[in-house]
Amino acid sequence: MGKNNSRPNNLDAFWMPFTANRQFKQTPRMFVAAKDMHYTTDDGRQVLDGTAGLWCCNAGHGRPRIIEAVQQQVAELDYAPAFQLGHPKVFELATALAEIAPESMNHVFFTNSGSESVETALKMAIAYHRVKGDGSRTRLIGRERGYHGVNFGGISVGGIVSNRKMFGTLLGGVDHMQHTHDIQRNAFTRGLPEHGVEFADDLERIVALHDASTIAAVIVEPMAGSTGVLMPPKGYLQRLREICDKHGILLIFDEVITGFGRMGGAFSPDVFGVVPDIITTAKGLTSGVIPMGAVFVRDDIHDAFMTGPEHLIEFFHGYTYSGNPIASAAALATLETYREENLFARAADLAGYWEDALHSLKGLPHVIDIRNYGLIGAIELDPIAGEPTKRAFTAFLKAFEKDLLIRTTGDIIALSPPLIIEKSQIDEIFDVLKSVLKTLD
Ligand SMILES: Cc1ncc(COP(=O)(O)O)c(C=O)c1O
Repeated sequence: MGKNNSRPNNLDAFWMPFTANRQFKQTPRMFVAAKDMHYTTDDGRQVLDGTAGLWCCNAGHGRPRIIEAVQQQVAELDYAPAFQLGHPKVFELATALAEIAPESMNHVFFTNSGSESVETALKMAIAYHRVKGDGSRTRLIGRERGYHGVNFGGISVGGIVSNRKMFGTLLGGVDHMQHTHDIQRNAFTRGLPEHGVEFADDLERIVALHDASTIAAVIVEPMAGSTGVLMPPKGYLQRLREICDKHGILLIFDEVITGFGRMGGAFSPDVFGVVPDIITTAKGLTSGVIPMGAVFVRDDIHDAFMTGPEHLIEFFHGYTYSGNPIASAAALATLETYREENLFARAADLAGYWEDALHSLKGLPHVIDIRNYGLIGAIELDPIAGEPTKRAFTAFLKAFEKDLLIRTTGDIIALSPPLIIEKSQIDEIFDVLKSVLKTLD
């Protein structure tokens, strides 16, 4: 084992995020290298990446163009102050992103993560109404089971109980629509569920309760990922759009997972046909290589801020690392890799093969639902009575022993491989999963 591969003697100091720390530290799972579709473990195994890291390495691992861009940039300009100063790459990147964003969205605000993109979007929405003279519109509406990162705004509009219950009263003036998960009517749907467009009407109930004049924005994931991969029912996003338009409410799509090819297009409007007012992104923007997020806004929202004396700051928000040169270089090289290898179209082309392979797990023990769209999939398991999450976590551990990386949330297995995956590797994922599911108690 080489020097870089040796396991550290002490695992105690690092408090790991979203991790069962004590379980991990008893039986650590360590990656020491990655290339294309595989991670290398510290004991020399090649693990097939069924999750693109954490839904982020859409171009796969160790991609030459991205490595080179980062190396060059760190040597040339490591950092430039983000406030009142600039550097060429971040402008180039914003222009390149505007080109692939929906037509009406030609302005981009940079952050360092999905959570920060969400906070930025929520603040932008409230501030937008204020600059338009509509300062009573301050309420934010999220959805049950929504995941919008871990900062206070994000967990307030989010709807995952375990992410909220420990942290007090959260942000005031927030309400939630009902979620769209309906296994009884939609189990084992391929693509978008037939049933559930009416779940969008819950927004009308909330508007009736609070009055539209108090509501700034609605935020949803077009496809809810971290909660366990919930596809929007057919017509649902369209209906949300109509209700928002009717009441002058901004619609924010949190595309931290769905952005950059996962669903078979750059962003969800390319595949679902519904254009929001603001889009939040991160993850696939740099294929996970360097932390970076981006918020896309409709042109007139941006323009509404561009008033008043020109020497004054228009939007009192931003991060030390907004549009950092190295992240910008990584993102430009990532976009180039997506373009050169036509990876968004590749995801769309492989979606049918992926769907068939995924749904071949139907009928295996404990499988109560299977869902998919683009290169994303989920297998929902019946929870063990009194021990929720344990069955899926056991599946995760067993798959890892068999050299496959999957992700679990609750009792749901979520899959989202890099978009460079080959058909033979899709077969491998589901062969391993079949053997794992057959052995689950
Ligand atoms: C929809 C959505 N929003 C926000 C986030 C938070 O992103 P980050 O972990 O980069 O802060 C995630 C992460 O999975 C996400 O899926």
